[in-house]
Amino acid sequence: MKSLFEKTPVVPVVVIDDADKAVRVAEALVAGGLPIIEVTMRTAAAADAIAAIAKQVPDAFVGAGTVLSGDHARAIVAAGAKFIVSPGLHADVVTAAEDLSVPIIPGIATATEAQQAWNMGLRVLKFFPAEQAGGVSMIKALASVFRDVVFMPTGGVSAANLKDYLELPAVLACGGSWLTPAKAIADGDFDRITTLASEALAIAKEVRG
Ligand code: 3PG
Repeated sequence: MKSLFEKTPVVPVVVIDDADKAVRVAEALVAGGLPIIEVTMRTAAAADAIAAIAKQVPDAFVGAGTVLSGDHARAIVAAGAKFIVSPGLHADVVTAAEDLSVPIIPGIATATEAQQAWNMGLRVLKFFPAEQAGGVSMIKALASVFRDVVFMPTGGVSAANLKDYLELPAVLACGGSWLTPAKAIADGDFDRITTLASEALAIAKEVRG
């Protein structure tokens, strides 16, 4: 999982209302060079969307975001999710993911939460909501203490600040919804999604080589 992120350190966060479009969105992201895709469990279509992507887009590595409970985790892994992301830290979610042998990236926003996660044995943490919770300078401060932890900032990340985050060695990858705008999905403008993905990948390559 970590080596996959090292290759493509940008994770599109997809909020999808229409499972039929999920495959097209995933194909567009893969075409733009971003195969790691987080589909949030914020819509009724999420499980069907993840199942469809897992079956029909073999080059994608699809996971579930906004996983709030152990039950959520079990259901979405059964649907085909290959990794789990949470907005916060909850032991039930972590335990469920570990029982299922699926990578879990829980959200943290403070040193206390990072320390709790560290004591659960977790070394890859989502920093959420990144911009609102202190952005680049907060990650620098956390990373100076939690030296064996890497972060996935998400929340307010965009093409405008992606470089600033990726320049930090403690940032494994950045997540965000800017790559899959609701309007582009609604309009079926999948080329736009490929363009946004390619632009983000170009920024990542510029920073990380
Ligand atoms: C998430 O689901 O992780 C965040 O809502 C994504 O935040 P963004 O929409 O600011 O990218």
